[in-house]
Amino acid sequence: MHSITKLQATPFQDQFGRYKRKLRISVTDRCNFKCVYCMPEHPEWMHKHNLLSFEALYAFCKFMVQRGIEQIRITGGEPLMRQGVVHFVQQLQALRTLGLKRISMTTNGHYLKQYAQALKQAGLDDLNISLDSLDATQFQQLTQRKLAPVLEGIAEAKKVGLKLKINTVLMQSFNSNQIIPLVQWALQQHVELRFIEFMPLDGDKKWTQQEVVSEQYILEILSSQFNVQILEGQGAQPAHQYLVNGQALGIISTITNSFCGRCDRLRLNAQGEFYNCLFSLQGLNIKQDIEALSFYPQQNGTLLNSKLASYIWQKEQGFHSLMAQNQSSGLRKISMHMIGG
Ligand code: GTP
Ligand code: 5AD
Ligand code: SF4
Repeated sequence: MHSITKLQATPFQDQFGRYKRKLRISVTDRCNFKCVYCMPEHPEWMHKHNLLSFEALYAFCKFMVQRGIEQIRITGGEPLMRQGVVHFVQQLQALRTLGLKRISMTTNGHYLKQYAQALKQAGLDDLNISLDSLDATQFQQLTQRKLAPVLEGIAEAKKVGLKLKINTVLMQSFNSNQIIPLVQWALQQHVELRFIEFMPLDGDKKWTQQEVVSEQYILEILSSQFNVQILEGQGAQPAHQYLVNGQALGIISTITNSFCGRCDRLRLNAQGEFYNCLFSLQGLNIKQDIEALSFYPQQNGTLLNSKLASYIWQKEQGFHSLMAQNQSSGLRKISMHMIGG
């Protein structure tokens, strides 16, 4: 007999003893941006009829919260491109009584001016917004879209009181000149900025080590202009934390200093493929199992539970071991927009 309390007491765990507390749900692979570090030149979109319904996604989230998930992050593609996503945020509120502590979203910010108020009202806890350049021309080159709506979206999110962080993926030959301007802007705006090392998740395999702007390089540039202090205690957060002129700043350095050892994350893409790691070579297709949850939740939940438990248990050590395997087998062409980061 699987009572809720009993299930909560046993969160999913992998073979390296890492418990899973965070779930990332990608609600669509579609995006109105075409960021060089993320989208392939010619994306093959998932067919709409293959997407999981919000009803099914909700049933899955409930099941996962009963299995110890405490934080859910809604991702894409661009999550605000899927109709009904605000309502989904509202539905998720019901899971707080079962142990859900935080509901978040990662967005490119383009539609935020329109949605910020509704997201706040729906009960979203916080937002991460991508902003890779403050130079309008460079921004357009990086994303194929305009900068102004994103800045307006950020302003609106602040206005309605949404907690937010800014994500900047740095690439050596594109926007490494933005380190200082972005930090100055973040200090002025009183927002937390995070620099992200470019990861090999760009679909077209354009990634090279030379394009990576390393945490160490970022720190050298920052130290030349600002007072930089290291904060201890990263926990299971992806970013190393610093104080720059007294304000929080993070650096996510998967390439030069990964946080895999403390990874507490799981992810589901929009068509029901489950991944135990961002770089997994093999996902687990659980679309039908998820859809069956609404019918005999007890029976189907037990089945899904054992499938997931064994797949999660097999989770590899992390980025470096998986990349080595991927290079030798050439198995998976990973693209960020399909899995949501
Ligand atoms: P919080 O720290 O909870 O605010 O969210 P987050 O930073 O995990 O989420 P976000 O979607 O903003 O991701 C920021 C960057 O971290 C993106 O480049 C993600 O791809 C990367 N990231 C998120 N989760 C993982 C992960 O499990 N492994 C690795 N290597 N990178 C991740
Ligand atoms: N490397 C690092 N971060 C990436 N993101 C998208 N593609 C990459 C990549 N190749 C980031 C986006 C967004 C988050 C979901 O993932 O900037 O903030
Ligand atoms: Fe976790 Fe994999 Fe990301 Fe490492 S690369 S932090 S193991 S999801």
